[in-house]
Amino acid sequence: MNQKLMVSLLLAGLGMGAQLAHAAPPDWSKVPATKIHVFHPGQTPWQWIESKGKHGGSRGLARGESCAGCHVEGGELNLDMSRLSGELETKGAPKTMTYPVNVQAAYDADNLYLRLSFKAPAGGFDKSDKDNELKATVLFPNAQIPMPEQVGCWATCHQDLKTMKDGSDKTKYVASGAYDLMQWASSGKTSDGSITDKRAMDGGKAGVKAEGAKSGDTWTVTFTRKLAGGVALAAGKPVQFGIAVHADNAGGRFHHVSLGHTLGLGADGDVKAVKQ
Ligand code: HEC
Repeated sequence: MNQKLMVSLLLAGLGMGAQLAHAAPPDWSKVPATKIHVFHPGQTPWQWIESKGKHGGSRGLARGESCAGCHVEGGELNLDMSRLSGELETKGAPKTMTYPVNVQAAYDADNLYLRLSFKAPAGGFDKSDKDNELKATVLFPNAQIPMPEQVGCWATCHQDLKTMKDGSDKTKYVASGAYDLMQWASSGKTSDGSITDKRAMDGGKAGVKAEGAKSGDTWTVTFTRKLAGGVALAAGKPVQFGIAVHADNAGGRFHHVSLGHTLGLGADGDVKAVKQ
């Protein structure tokens, strides 16, 4: 073999290696999991959250406390589920009000990898999404949404949404700012979208890829998105996110949701993302 050929083969090999190291999804068996509990939120839209007469946390929220700061204790939810299936729910609630989702995360120079695994309960109340037994969604707020470091997905939730008691035909929206939205649906569709003054299920800039599967009674959904995107996720500071799972063919607001949590990319966070 002549020297020139050897050098070019060597370079090609190096190039391939570098590329693989870059885009390789993590070995999930080496990434620690954090339990985040999702719950049926009843009808507790933004207007309810901010109402001093209705929500005991409205003043604390205005002073800068976060939903999770008041409602998560030692990793468990401190929320009265009987209110969320009773006085705060006019239509009907799922049989299982809350369950844990195992969240794992990793990142490299370009991408965030996020893996959710959970047992999705049967016994849903609303089964209006005939096409999808399951949808898993993750939202990332940007800095312009109201109280982005406190409220998780709640800034998208309003009392005039489609499936609310006094609903219109609106879907989720925010008063200001934007969320990046990524979703995997069990029919096989992956969405890379956003929530601004309206919800868009595509047109996102995060290059979202997702795959999911059910094994026994456990679902595993893995997302890959660019750190750059509508909402740029930078290493060195915590990233805010929230999760929603539509289980048992649930549609509209009949999802189980998390409060807002932080993802630590080279920083502290409720979920620590492992560097690749
Ligand atoms: C300063 C503490 C505090 C903050 C911050 C706070 N809450 Fe609450 N929240 C409460 C208290 C106290 C109650 C129950 C008492 C009441 O409302 O009468 C409550 C009640 C609720 C309930 C009804 C179920 C129950 O346990 O009574 C929901 C749902 C809820 N909060 C969601 C949220 C969400 C979502 C956020 C963030 C957008 C939030 N809370 C922020 C203190 C807080």
